[in-house]
Amino acid sequence: MCGIVGYIGSNNVKEVLLDGLKELEYRGYDSAGISVLQDESFSVYKAVGKLKNLQHKAEDFKPEGFAVGIGHTRWATHGKPTELNAHPHLGEYSYVVHNGIIENYQELKKELTAKGVKFLSQTDTEVIVHLFEQNLNSIEDAFEAFKLTLSQLQGAYAILLVTKSEPDTIFFAKEGSPMIIGTDALEQKFFASSDTPLIGHAKDVIYLHDGEFGFVTPDAIALFDSCHEAVRPQFSALPESKLSAQKEGFRFFMEKEIYEQTEVIADTMLGRIQDNAIAFDELDPSLFEGINEVKFCACGTSYHSALASTYLFERHAKIRTSVEIASEFRYKEPLMTTDTLFVVISQSGETADTLETLKMAKEAGLKTLVICNVDNSSMVRLADATILTRAGIEKGVASTKAFATQVTIFWMLSLYLAGERKTLSTENITKQIASLREIPASVAVNDDLHERLKRLSKRYLHGHGFFFIGRDVFYPLALEGALKLKEISYLHAEGYPSGEMKHGPIALADPELFTIALMPQHMLYDKTKSNVEELSARDSTICAISNLTFDKADDFIPIADRDHYMLEFFEMMVVLQLLSMEIAIRLGNDVDMPRNLAKSVTVE
Ligand code: G6P
Repeated sequence: MCGIVGYIGSNNVKEVLLDGLKELEYRGYDSAGISVLQDESFSVYKAVGKLKNLQHKAEDFKPEGFAVGIGHTRWATHGKPTELNAHPHLGEYSYVVHNGIIENYQELKKELTAKGVKFLSQTDTEVIVHLFEQNLNSIEDAFEAFKLTLSQLQGAYAILLVTKSEPDTIFFAKEGSPMIIGTDALEQKFFASSDTPLIGHAKDVIYLHDGEFGFVTPDAIALFDSCHEAVRPQFSALPESKLSAQKEGFRFFMEKEIYEQTEVIADTMLGRIQDNAIAFDELDPSLFEGINEVKFCACGTSYHSALASTYLFERHAKIRTSVEIASEFRYKEPLMTTDTLFVVISQSGETADTLETLKMAKEAGLKTLVICNVDNSSMVRLADATILTRAGIEKGVASTKAFATQVTIFWMLSLYLAGERKTLSTENITKQIASLREIPASVAVNDDLHERLKRLSKRYLHGHGFFFIGRDVFYPLALEGALKLKEISYLHAEGYPSGEMKHGPIALADPELFTIALMPQHMLYDKTKSNVEELSARDSTICAISNLTFDKADDFIPIADRDHYMLEFFEMMVVLQLLSMEIAIRLGNDVDMPRNLAKSVTVE
C-alpha cells in the first residue's frame, strides 16, 4: 500500500524524505518519488522499483537551507508501475502525493480534459493537482482553492500538496486513509502516513481524523474539521519501537492484516461499484465473447477463493465453471478448448505452478485473466487481462486480507458477468450490490468477539484433530479455516463438505475431535444442522458459528444477523482467522513466519 512523507524545515530535506520513505518500505511499493520546492523552483525525482533507484537518481541533488518537500511510495492500483505514474504528480506549478482512490476521477478527468488540461499519467491522483490549479485560477487564494478541490473529490484519500503560489506551505487532507503530522522544537514539521518515519524526528504528533484538512507553514499548523470549523490540534506521544510501530500496535502482522480487511476490501470495491451495476474498467467486454466455460486455477489459499467463486459464477452468471489445483493441472494432460476463459488467481503473481498453467493456457490459445495482488508480477505481465486486488503488501505467511479481497472480486465479477449475460434481473443485482457494500462492515473486528475467541482458544490446544465443515461456499471457507489453523498452529485440521462426513470422516468422531461448524442462516441451514447433529450424537466436541443459537453446540460463536449468505461468509472468515491466530499464539508459535512455509513459492 502506498506511503506518504512530507517535510518543511531547514534540515536536509532530501535525506528526511528518503529516510522516511525507507521506513515505509515494509508496506510494499513498486515505484517512488520526491518533489522539493526550494527558492521558487521544484526538484523532482522518480524511479520504478526499489528506493535505491530513487536514491541513485537524486544523487547529485544537494539541497541546503529551508525547503518544502513531499514524497511517496506507490503500490500500483490505477495504471502500471511506471515513472510517469509514480507520485508526486505535477500540474503546472504544484505537486501532489495521494494515498487512497479518487472514485470520481474519470468524470473529473473528462471535465478537465475538455478544458484543455493534458494528463501525463494513468492515475486517479493526477486529477487532484489539475483541479486545484483550475480552482486557483478562478479563486486566487490557494487555501480556498484547495478546500474547493476537496469538496469535488469522492473516495478515500490522504493528500499532501505543495505549490509555487504558496512556497512555504504544505496543504494536507485526510479522508479514509491515514495521515499524521509531527512537530519538534525547531519549527520543523513532518508528515507521514504511519508512525515509523516520524520516530526519531518528531517530538509530538497529531493523528488526523477523517474529514480534517488544513495547511502547515514553518510557524503554524492550521487544522479544520469536515464542517470547516477550526480545530485545536491534539498532540500525542509517539511509539518508541519501529518494529512495533510497523505493526501499528498489533502483536503480529497477521493480526494487523486481519484488522485491515475492512479498509482493503473498501479499496478493492472503490470505483467498481455503481448503484445497479458492477464496472471493471480494466476488462474489455470482448474478453467474454465466445466463452462457454470459465476455468480457475490456483494454489493454497487462492485455490480456496477460486473454489468459492465457482458457486457464485454458476449461480449468478449461469456459466459452466470449474476449478483446478495448479500443481495437478500441469501434469494431467488437460483438455483445453478455446471457448474456455482461463483464470489464474494469485496473491503474489509468482507462484511457479500457477504461472506454468497460465503459460499452458496461452500456448493452447485460450483467453486468460489473472486476479492478482501485485501489479507487474509475472502473471500480470503474461495474462491477456488483469484485475488487481488492492490488499496491499501481505506480510503474514498465512494469507488473510488477500483471500478476503479475492472473494470480494469474485462476488463482484459474478455479478458483472450476470449483468453482461442478463442472467440475473437488475433488481437482483441491485440488491446484491447493496449487500456487497456491507462487506467492509461485516469484516470489522469487534472487540468483544476478539476477546471471546482469545478466551475460547485455550480449549482447543489438544485433541487429535479438527474438522471444519460447511456447505456450498462455506465448504471452501471450511477448507480455508482448516488451512489457516494447520499453517500456524501445526495442529491437524481438515475441511469437509458437511454432507460428506457420513461417508467416512465421521468414523473419527469422539470428544477429542473438534468440529468447527459453519452454520449460516441463509445457506442450507437445516441441512448443515442435521450434519452437525450427527457429529454431536457421536460425541464430537462442537464449536458452532452462526447467528442462530444451536443447543447441541459445546461452544457457540454468534455472528450478526445478515441478509445475504456472503456477508455471513465474510464474518465467519474473520472468526476463523482470529481463532487460528489465538490458538497459535497460545501454543507459542511464530504466527507471521510459520515453520516450513514460504510466502511466495517460486519453485515447483
Ligand atoms: C504459498 C503461501 C500460501 C498461498 C500460496 C499461493 O503456499 O504460503 O499462503 O496461498 O502460496 O500463493 P499465491 O501468491 O499464488 O496466491
